[in-house]
Amino acid sequence: MKFTIKTVSLIDSTQDKAKEYAQKGEEEGFVLQALEQSKGRGRHGKNWVSQKGNLYMSVILKPECLVDESSQLAFVSALAVSDAIEGFLPSGMVRKNLKWPNDVLVNNKKIAGILIENTLVRGRIEFVTLGIGLNVNVTPQIEKSVCLKDILDVEHNISEVRDSVLQCLARFYNMWKRDGFSEIRTLWLKQAYGIGQNLTVSLSENEIKGKFDGIDKNGWMIVTDKSGNQRNIKSGTIIFD
Ligand code: BTN
Repeated sequence: MKFTIKTVSLIDSTQDKAKEYAQKGEEEGFVLQALEQSKGRGRHGKNWVSQKGNLYMSVILKPECLVDESSQLAFVSALAVSDAIEGFLPSGMVRKNLKWPNDVLVNNKKIAGILIENTLVRGRIEFVTLGIGLNVNVTPQIEKSVCLKDILDVEHNISEVRDSVLQCLARFYNMWKRDGFSEIRTLWLKQAYGIGQNLTVSLSENEIKGKFDGIDKNGWMIVTDKSGNQRNIKSGTIIFD
């Protein structure tokens, strides 16, 4: 995949602006990066703290998949971020995990978040805006966060980190397009955080308590409750006990 990168210094959210570019005809591989965001967005309408020093980018993708399948891109992207940051971390000295559905953790703290937004036309995906926020040189003042710089106390070049993430993204995205979700799922499970642990999943209408038993063939979380009933959950906020 060929990337076309546009960088701006300050923007409200790269997600919204990248969508505008895509609507005006930008192709798959268009990347909008901001050095700072004034209204960075996370999942479930949460704020994404976006001060200078970290990577904030939105990538336009045009996958030929069903609407439901596009959530698999969260796993594709998490694998890409995970592989990319490997090159900026001391080998064997940190624990790196992927937390369902789309967080990347280093030493059990969040280093990156991913946001997948679909733009549909007549019920079909016209394009996907893939947002990646990766803490490079600054740790947001949020509980359980970490940045790359925290690990070895060295600043990293954000463009270098970005290019590495994009290179890895192209690799896993091609793998997904060619072979489907199965291999991505296997690779993701190898790095999954909290398999076998008890958790609470908050859904819009209720809460589910149970044990995290991995992800199914669609990327939905498998939770087994005390009575042994298995629930497959598409979306929710999870808190491990
Ligand atoms: C999450 O973990 O909740 C997802 C966070 C996604 C943040 C990125 S930063 C670049 C892009 N622009 C945004 O406004 N959000 C995403």
